[in-house]
Amino acid sequence: MVRKFDAVILGAGAAGMMCAIRAGQRGKRVLVLDHARAPGEKIRISGGGRCNFTNIHTTGTSYISANPHFAKSALARYTPNDFVQLVERHGVPWHEKTLGQLFCDNSAKDIVNLLLAEMRDANGQLELQQEVLSVEKAPGGYRVATSGGLVEASALVVATGGKSIPKMGATGFAYRIAEQFGLNVVETRPGLVPLTLDAQLLERLAPLSGISVPAEVRHGRTAFREALLFTHRGLSGPAILQISSYWREGDEILLRIAPDRNLFEELKSARKINGRQAPQTVLAEILPRRLAQHVLEKAGLAATVQMAECPDRVLEAIASAAQSWRMKPAGSEGYRTAEVTLGGVDTKDLDSRTMAAKAVPGLYFIGECVDVTGWLGGYNFQWAWASGHVCGDAL
Ligand code: FDA
Repeated sequence: MVRKFDAVILGAGAAGMMCAIRAGQRGKRVLVLDHARAPGEKIRISGGGRCNFTNIHTTGTSYISANPHFAKSALARYTPNDFVQLVERHGVPWHEKTLGQLFCDNSAKDIVNLLLAEMRDANGQLELQQEVLSVEKAPGGYRVATSGGLVEASALVVATGGKSIPKMGATGFAYRIAEQFGLNVVETRPGLVPLTLDAQLLERLAPLSGISVPAEVRHGRTAFREALLFTHRGLSGPAILQISSYWREGDEILLRIAPDRNLFEELKSARKINGRQAPQTVLAEILPRRLAQHVLEKAGLAATVQMAECPDRVLEAIASAAQSWRMKPAGSEGYRTAEVTLGGVDTKDLDSRTMAAKAVPGLYFIGECVDVTGWLGGYNFQWAWASGHVCGDAL
């Protein structure tokens, strides 16, 4: 027996559920299929268990894509405020943490439950633990063969996300379907991911492991000011995750530790006030002690030197060791820990108002599988909600 629907949505993540809600509210008969045991697993683990569900500063400029304008239409039609209203309607308590990032007060599960309740109200059907065996064109639409049987629908929405965290069931499924129907896929790579260092550099930086400092991390013309964390494998923290989406193998990054401070001027005035102090003592008042020590070693300063013995050029060398620190990461931690997948279904082949494949009637791609990747800070969920919503509006 073949079951028939108006739309079959593959993937019960953020984008797929939002799409089902919107289409269901418009009276469409919708089936959502997922191979996982539970819906919205990435929502559940997101934001350290509190889900950074949107960012109030969302604009098209916070996204990386071969076409930087593509996301604007959907983001303008379904805004962070629209999602906040939904969250408030369900009485989910939330707060702004920093930089416009909105988090649940209690648990990310509140967001999953909210989406499931909305989906139920909209009569969307959800079937879990369904392996999708094949997808093909059928008269008037698409036929999907799953471990649970055959379904047909006039529209097929692919919302199966990217490749990040394969342990949670992430697959390259969406890209395979895109290719099957002749759509281009922009090369994929891990984004929002810690960077690793070669063994030699790692050994030198080993004493810094666990230190978190405010920093500006730059790659070319792109820079982020957030926390930087030295780890036992390399570099992490929000500033590094952000820049990792721009960094390519072989590139250098530039670290500016304590970017809001003028280290050179501070060192000069410390020398004036008390020339007998050791630079180590002065710097350790500004930076964590172990980092101060490392910076002085990098600047080639002997431990016995006093501030009065440091001419301007030495103080400049110290400041520059901390604030013009060039580093060449060896690689990234890869999809194992990446929060997102860069690249994906080529936006050239999609209609930005509906997410429909331009050349394949009835086929849609939404969420992370599309070549639209947000910065850290709630932007990726906002893209999932927005692309899912405009697609649900068009089904
Ligand atoms: P998503 O990956 O959520 O959903 C895809 C669904 O498809 C899954 O349910 C999966 O099981 C299913 N699926 C996959 N392959 C399938 C197949 N072959 N057959 C059937 N089903 C299949 N973003 C943000 O804005 N704020 C945050 O706080 C965080 N935090 C965060 C933490 C961590 C650890 C990660 C890994 C990621 C984040 N993100 C985030 C990113 C965010 O989770 C991501 O951008 C969205 O979940 C993408 O939503 P999608 O619906 O597109 O894919």
